Amino acid sequence: MDFISGISWWMWILIVLLIVAIRDIFIQKAHTISHNYPIVGHLRYMLEKIGPELRQYLVANNREELPFNRIERGWVYASAKHENNYEGFGTERDIYAHQHIFINNAMMPFKPKENHPNEIDKTFLPCAKVMGLHNKRKKPFRPASVINVSAMSFGSLSAKAVESLNKGVKMAGAYHNTGEGGLSPYHSYGGDVIFHFGTGYFGVRNEDGTFSLEKLVKLVEDNPSIRAIEIKLSQGAKPGKGGVLPASKITKEIAAIRHVELGKDVLSPPNHSAFTTIPEMVDFIEKIAEATGLPVGIKAAIGKLEQWEELADLMIKTGKGPDFITVDGGEGGTGAAPPSFADHVSLPWVYGFSDLYKLFQRKELTDRIVFIGSGKLGFPAKAAMAFAMGADCINVAREAMMSIGCIQAQVCHTNRCPSGVATQSKWLQSGIDPTLKSARLAQYFKTFRKEFIEITHAAGYEHPCQFKMSDIEINVDDHNLSKELNKTYMYNKTHVPFTDMQDLKDCIYLGGNN
Ligand SMILES: Cc1cc2nc3c(=O)[nH]c(=O)nc-3n(C[C@H](O)[C@H](O)[C@H](O)COP(=O)(O)O)c2cc1C
Repeated sequence: MDFISGISWWMWILIVLLIVAIRDIFIQKAHTISHNYPIVGHLRYMLEKIGPELRQYLVANNREELPFNRIERGWVYASAKHENNYEGFGTERDIYAHQHIFINNAMMPFKPKENHPNEIDKTFLPCAKVMGLHNKRKKPFRPASVINVSAMSFGSLSAKAVESLNKGVKMAGAYHNTGEGGLSPYHSYGGDVIFHFGTGYFGVRNEDGTFSLEKLVKLVEDNPSIRAIEIKLSQGAKPGKGGVLPASKITKEIAAIRHVELGKDVLSPPNHSAFTTIPEMVDFIEKIAEATGLPVGIKAAIGKLEQWEELADLMIKTGKGPDFITVDGGEGGTGAAPPSFADHVSLPWVYGFSDLYKLFQRKELTDRIVFIGSGKLGFPAKAAMAFAMGADCINVAREAMMSIGCIQAQVCHTNRCPSGVATQSKWLQSGIDPTLKSARLAQYFKTFRKEFIEITHAAGYEHPCQFKMSDIEINVDDHNLSKELNKTYMYNKTHVPFTDMQDLKDCIYLGGNN
């Protein structure tokens, strides 16, 4: 005892370092660097671990990071908090850079008349099209907001995050897409809901994992906030990739919501079991629309066009088909995906959407479909470009997450999200106050719509559906520095029938809190 108590503190440090060195050289086999450079080799692993944070906080410039740079994140945060989201001294962007977007302003902006809906509410911006009207569904739906929350399930997001999003869309009059994980109690605070399911049919599945129409009909009957149904074919971050929900992640609550067994891995296969061909898919859509009365759409990332061509031809022949199509860009987010998929499979939004829209336009089908775009489109200028190309609504996932506190730590797949947004850890999500965060989501949407309306007015229009391809220019290369969208992507969008905002406000199908 006397011997041990006689060892001085610096001797203890030396002893600990000696033990670490012995472990590094003789015991551990996993790390060559630690073996070859005992003790100091650990510094490399430590720095590598905190590298992303160091770069984000200290090193990266304002426009450098991906998926969202500091300026973009800052704009969402400031908008959500209703803080000053302006910048001083002029743009800090290189507006001659490749892919930079310009909106052609009118000589004189659009001037709303007295009592115009936007004079009363500067954030009033519903969708110009009605989902399900063409196909004569029993309950057509006009989204009351052109910006909405994209598919993200309870399971990939925390209960507190889902609750904040649902309460937020209710305040903003937007809709909330459930994502693949079923309709949870946290989706049920009164905001409009688009019920979304993929190949796992979570929440509407039989014991053997096949789709149950009876369960879907019951779900819709019990939950009048469900305004439309979205069938997921694919998403931009991992098209054609199935998934496994490991048994360890299945809590009692998740098992009950998704209708899966506790203690067993659950498979989401790459393909649907409810249909295997395009005609079968159209029949499936019709069956669901008939049984629920709701508009039914599909979500997909775009690559090859042959099967889309088949769908379009079938729509012409039968007069049936989806009421809306959500086009997700290859740049889209996910809770977890292999980089080989996230980086390379499926086209970025502008290429995928323009290919698809052109195809449906050639077949004169664009009037029958509400086009929804997602893939880093949650910024007013990007949205203007998307609308000019033919989008009718925008879905946002990660931007919505940021508005409720996500710091882009990019660890959604580890269950260790520091902001409590994308984790099931009770401790990590306990810092989220849904009352405060829902107000932030609502404020982000309202600020977005207000700025989008202002940009629209600056271009001489009343509603963004009036944007034409030729209104937006994009830098293409050095010789031909900027080119209008119609010349770059080789089409003009079809005219969207629009009378005025008052007409949309008076629409009997208008969603939100109306
Ligand atoms: C955490 C997280 C979970 C997601 N879950 C789903 C899902 O269940 N189904 C789906 O189709 N897309 C899912 N997505 C993709 C988004 O709905 C969206 O299409 C994509 O992120 C592009 O939008 P963004 O750029 O605004 O994030 C998820 C994305 C994130 C970030």
